[in-house]
Amino acid sequence: MSPNWPSWLPLRGDLSELSPYGAPQIEVPVRLNTNENPYNLSDDLQSALLDEISRCLKVLNRYPDRDAIALREALAGSINASHGTDVDSASIWAANGSNEIIQTILLAFEGGALGFEPSYSMHPLISKVVGKSWISIPRDKNFEISESQIEKAISATESKIIFITTPNNPTGTSTSLELITKVATAIASRQGLVVVDEAYGEFSKNPSAITLIKGHPNVLVSKTMSKAFAFAGARLGYVIADPKVIEALQLVRLPYHLSALTQAAALAAISKQSSLSKDVERLREAREEVAKEINSMGLQSYPSEANFLLFSGFIDSSVKLWEELLNRGVLVRDVGIAGHLRVTIGTRAENRAFLDALREITQGRGSRREDNHPEVRG
Ligand SMILES: Cc1ncc(COP(=O)(O)O)c(C=O)c1O
Repeated sequence: MSPNWPSWLPLRGDLSELSPYGAPQIEVPVRLNTNENPYNLSDDLQSALLDEISRCLKVLNRYPDRDAIALREALAGSINASHGTDVDSASIWAANGSNEIIQTILLAFEGGALGFEPSYSMHPLISKVVGKSWISIPRDKNFEISESQIEKAISATESKIIFITTPNNPTGTSTSLELITKVATAIASRQGLVVVDEAYGEFSKNPSAITLIKGHPNVLVSKTMSKAFAFAGARLGYVIADPKVIEALQLVRLPYHLSALTQAAALAAISKQSSLSKDVERLREAREEVAKEINSMGLQSYPSEANFLLFSGFIDSSVKLWEELLNRGVLVRDVGIAGHLRVTIGTRAENRAFLDALREITQGRGSRREDNHPEVRG
């Protein structure tokens, strides 16, 4: 047991070395470290939200709809409109953020878990917390998943739950539906599941893996309202899957886990969804502009399909550059990949502040291009 835990505490041995997940929450003028949408809700949406919530207040003495049917139907409508699918509420389940979705999946299904890293670090963390083994397959030098890495995943027979994050956090890279289909087909005979984490899917032009579910019932697609929907504070994630998968998830969910206030807020947000696509388009355009300017400084930004950029090529260590940016009021994310930092795309003014600070720090000291494979933290 780690010396930080008192001996009288019956903490599980496998947890004693872990630390709680979380990016630093530092009050600074420019916060570009948690991939939030920088645009707050429109006045129109705020008043729709207040209406829904005041309706809800009249019955707050009662438990919420345990199955969140109205919300799941609204999500189905929104998904079908965006992806040309015909899913219904039986193929969708909603929870407090997609982290709860991931945890519920890992609680419900047997076997170890596997992911292609670097990727979202909650996948291994939650796997460990629920007592599962975790296999990490390193991505290639451009942070993509190659055919040979897919083959490795397929042959890791103890892993029944394979995570594919696309676009991937923290690298922004996407994985094709062909590769996802290949994994899903190959692991079906060992009762394997592919969990496609599409938290940033709305920022990409690639088709969603939702379209695979009909032909491949072992594909689960996890999505969130935290990013493109600009709803991180409300905590709403959802999964689209075969109805039997959704039914199985109900075995481990807590009763009344999704508050009536959350359900009401999400319903209001979905009803005003069309106003959000403008902001998503603005963020996509800004991403390309920021990438260009980072590259013009002699640094290297990785091609991204998400609302953030991973960049490298600076002389300082990532810790040092992170600190220097923070000293100038700009908070970015050190994702634990040596020589790399991740910046979320913000408003025009925030992006300008970041780029000016980056230029000021790196200019005069020069920069170098890093073509070598970075050291990867598991
Ligand atoms: C890839 C990925 N999946 C899931 C999440 C969790 O999102 P939330 O719990 O806010 O829905 C995040 C958050 O940053 C993420 O990057």
